[in-house]
Amino acid sequence: MLLGIDISTTGAKALLIDEKGKVVSSSTTPLKLSTPRPLWSEQNPHEWWEGIVRSIRQALQQAGVTGSEISAIGMTGQMHGLVLLDEHGEVLRPAILWNDQRTGSQCDEIRARLGKERLIQVTGNDALTGFTAPKILWVQQNEPEIFAKVRHILLPKDYIRYKLTAEYSVDKAGGSGTILFDLKERTWSGEVLAGLDIPAEWLPPTYEGPEITSNVNVSAAAETGLAEGTPVVGGGGDQAAQAVGVGAVHPGIVALTLGTSGVVFATTESALVEPEGRLHAFCHAVPGRWHFMGVMLSAAGSLQWYRDTLAPEVSFDELIDETRDIQPGSEGLIFLPYLTGERTPHPDPLARAAWVGLTVRHTRAHMTRAVLEGVAFGVKDSFTLIQKAGLGSIDQVRISGGGAKSVLWRQIIADVLGVELVTVKTTEGAAYGAALLAGVGAGSFNSVQEACEAAIQITGRTTPSDVTQLYQQFYPRYRALYPALASEFKALAELVD
Ligand code: XUL
Repeated sequence: MLLGIDISTTGAKALLIDEKGKVVSSSTTPLKLSTPRPLWSEQNPHEWWEGIVRSIRQALQQAGVTGSEISAIGMTGQMHGLVLLDEHGEVLRPAILWNDQRTGSQCDEIRARLGKERLIQVTGNDALTGFTAPKILWVQQNEPEIFAKVRHILLPKDYIRYKLTAEYSVDKAGGSGTILFDLKERTWSGEVLAGLDIPAEWLPPTYEGPEITSNVNVSAAAETGLAEGTPVVGGGGDQAAQAVGVGAVHPGIVALTLGTSGVVFATTESALVEPEGRLHAFCHAVPGRWHFMGVMLSAAGSLQWYRDTLAPEVSFDELIDETRDIQPGSEGLIFLPYLTGERTPHPDPLARAAWVGLTVRHTRAHMTRAVLEGVAFGVKDSFTLIQKAGLGSIDQVRISGGGAKSVLWRQIIADVLGVELVTVKTTEGAAYGAALLAGVGAGSFNSVQEACEAAIQITGRTTPSDVTQLYQQFYPRYRALYPALASEFKALAELVD
């Protein structure tokens, strides 16, 4: 039996699978998010631990197994969060999370201190408010009394690893999301750490996804019901583990997660970088592989907002069903999905959503279809950047997340991208990928690729239709709208600030 642990923003999840990849039991304890000030987003690491202890106990109980039947544990969780510990391993302040936006000026400072081009060359990424490095600078500048006590820096899932094993370690996929990594070397960058005055000894050793980092210790065993000595593997940040969980471990197979946000994840065989940093470039949880990632902030979130605001009395299925007679292109209506600003390809918090091209002929059904198409065009933006940055051909897209349930949306995305979409059986996401990585560490599979081939079953295929040509004419029109409107979005934001 293999255990996957996922510390997401919304819940602490324990997933048990057998050595063939079959799901045995799953338990999630909900977690609260704290927003003590506008732009802030924090969680208490103790609550992650309490939550996961509960979930592990419940998952074991549901499955009717004891801890001694678990051969290895894989860790995953929200990326980029900052956990600060003192010399005794005690938490110094609430964790600052991936979606916290307080560090705008620290990002500017990082670019100024290291040079934006050099930063992207070494770490693969520009400084974004969500990443870990600017958060460290923020604490240094705003809470010097706390900063003076810092001796260890960890990411959320690695704090739970520390609680399980009393060892400080970080997986390489998660580590690269701090932007303190040398992407090519797959470990901490001496140059970046020195440039930001962060002591290298605060950062733990780094491990590949299936590599064993440490073992469950006696006190964690007593608390969780796991057996002392159970090996814990590196695992990966949630996006890398999610990609393993759907089998996106080869360059030709791209993962698309259509949740509130939309994530395009493409495996690369070398440390490729988008020269302007418009794509994230991190280490994969697959040893010796990397990945590009494009993140749209409002993907299925666009449809959710639209339904909740304009058609709350209608179900998603009914709303989408209304569009069945609307022609592709929505009779010239285009939706820009920037409801919460954007990350890829326009890193612009002030980008705004819009329907462009409305006429009196347009109905709610046209507006719905335009939302579905606008999100698909946004996904294509990431594909375009990824291909320009050097990834070869994309043969297949493995789609998951709430938005993947709609047959029509899947068809629109396949048509806009001109690539086959595939759905897979397991919908347990990142925790499933983490459990497969544990399986590799425990020797149940010889490699991550082999684990994916053995465990992941394809349940559906959507092939592009001849509408693809039509969308090739609409896409440039969509592409032209953000540059045309960006300065007006900014001016509007200034008016209402
Ligand atoms: C990845 C990212 C999110 C978080 C939270 O870059 O910001 O996926 O990991 O889930």
